[in-house]
Amino acid sequence: MKILAIHGSPRTIRSTTRRLAGFVLEGAADAGAETEMIDLADYRIVPCTACEACTLNGTCVNDDDLPSLVARMKEADAIVFGSPVYIDNITGQMKVFFDRLADAIHYQQLAGKYGCAVATTEESGGDGVVAYLSHVLNYLGIISVGGISVATGGKPEPVDAAEPAARALGKKLADAVRDGYADPVQEAVLTDNRAYFRSMVEENRDLRPEEYERWMRMGWIR
Ligand SMILES: Cc1cc2nc3c(=O)[nH]c(=O)nc-3n(C[C@H](O)[C@H](O)[C@H](O)COP(=O)(O)O)c2cc1C
Repeated sequence: MKILAIHGSPRTIRSTTRRLAGFVLEGAADAGAETEMIDLADYRIVPCTACEACTLNGTCVNDDDLPSLVARMKEADAIVFGSPVYIDNITGQMKVFFDRLADAIHYQQLAGKYGCAVATTEESGGDGVVAYLSHVLNYLGIISVGGISVATGGKPEPVDAAEPAARALGKKLADAVRDGYADPVQEAVLTDNRAYFRSMVEENRDLRPEEYERWMRMGWIR
């Protein structure tokens, strides 16, 4: 079982959010998962220019690190998204990354995995960022098992105090991969999303036959 954490703090190894996500991974590792942390800021990811090439042929016009990250996400059984709060939102690094996942979202290439979300903030906005990260997980076809945000006040102690909850979240994620995790509310959201994207897959059938066939195999097109 592989669990991958991806965080969008530019502070990389000094990041508080990375530390919180690390506790989640440690909880998952204790429950038997192989884990990996990705510092997005170490990768070259060019912002989406809305050229729509990816929708038409599955390949971005930009030659950068995004495809290797998507490949690692595909290999993972579960994904942890993490971001610090920047002006009540995710960081620019995280948003540039998410925008480049449009093709993975449209064709639901990561569907069936589990995920969770973490955020840190000086004072406020943490719950909103966790909610947004969870929303993006759902967009990707991933069921979230929960999230955790910590308001640090600029000190390490609040993250120390959150370690048990973060480790428990990691264990919950590993347990979901192993045993399944039912959430009827999120499942309904995922079903609605697939109904929306189905028309795109059908429309692009001749351009993306491999995706059309995969949707047929999944039973998402009948
Ligand atoms: C550009 C910028 C914007 C920020 N915006 C907010 C904010 O809106 N609200 C808040 O409480 N903290 C804000 N912060 C503080 C960070 O969210 C906080 O320090 C966070 O724990 C940093 O996480 P990191 O160490 O993982 O980068 C901001 C920090 C930066 C650098």
